Amino acid sequence: MEVVKTENVTRIYRVGDVETNALRGVNLSIQSGEFTALIGPSGSGKTTLLQLIGCLDMPTSGRVTVNGKDVTNLNRNQRADIRAESIGFVFQFFALIPTLTAYENIEMPLLLAGKSSSERAERVKQLLEWIDLPDRANYRPDQLSGGQQQRVAVARALAINPALILADEPTANLDTPNGRQVMDVMTRLNKETGVTFLFATHDPRVIQYARRVVTLQDGLIIKDELVEKSAVGA
Ligand SMILES: Nc1ncnc2c1ncn2[C@@H]1O[C@H](COP(=O)(O)OP(=O)(O)O)[C@@H](O)[C@H]1O
Ligand SMILES: [Mg+2]
Repeated sequence: MEVVKTENVTRIYRVGDVETNALRGVNLSIQSGEFTALIGPSGSGKTTLLQLIGCLDMPTSGRVTVNGKDVTNLNRNQRADIRAESIGFVFQFFALIPTLTAYENIEMPLLLAGKSSSERAERVKQLLEWIDLPDRANYRPDQLSGGQQQRVAVARALAINPALILADEPTANLDTPNGRQVMDVMTRLNKETGVTFLFATHDPRVIQYARRVVTLQDGLIIKDELVEKSAVGA
């Protein structure tokens, strides 16, 4: 099943008199279960593309399909619905709610989705185990390491069982061991749950986890290759 499809997608930003062609006609198809890195220099359009796929922004022209649904011209509320149903986000700055515990941060999307308290408890417990943090359930973000915070963010993204998780530079603010922990968790969740991951990065340590690497340059895909899997994570 095709989880993401972009067809001739462009995005022009206008600020005053200045126009920036952030995307110039991007065609990308991502199948269910993929673990794909989006790479390219700063300013090449990675974040813009993730925002379009994530229904946080709309293309200037072209078509975006997510999970079989044309999301190109949806209004604000309809896009919010697609996000709540189908898409999890992991950001560079972990974006956890500072006053809530790890448990409560992971529970939040389930609360918003109207899940019962027993369903929530069971799901959060399972997610805390998946990210290897069952003993940190009651810690607040400022009591966790950066890698632990980002793992909580990954669990929160996965809570609603989305078709797709989008991650924008998920390890940019982490040192090597913490970055590795986050990538190990994402890899394991991809294998165990089949959730599709698309992550933007320019971190070579992260790129080596990918099974497919898509390269953007000046708003165009210039390379799209499958990676031979060998000793990654060993
Ligand atoms: N909100 C915005 N308003 C105006 N220009 C933007 C905006 N966001 C990004 N851009 C411009 O679009 C281009 C692509 O940016 P971006 O998608 O953030 O690239 P990347 O994530 O690869 O660094 C850059 O030239 C950037 O300056
Ligand atoms: Mg970016």
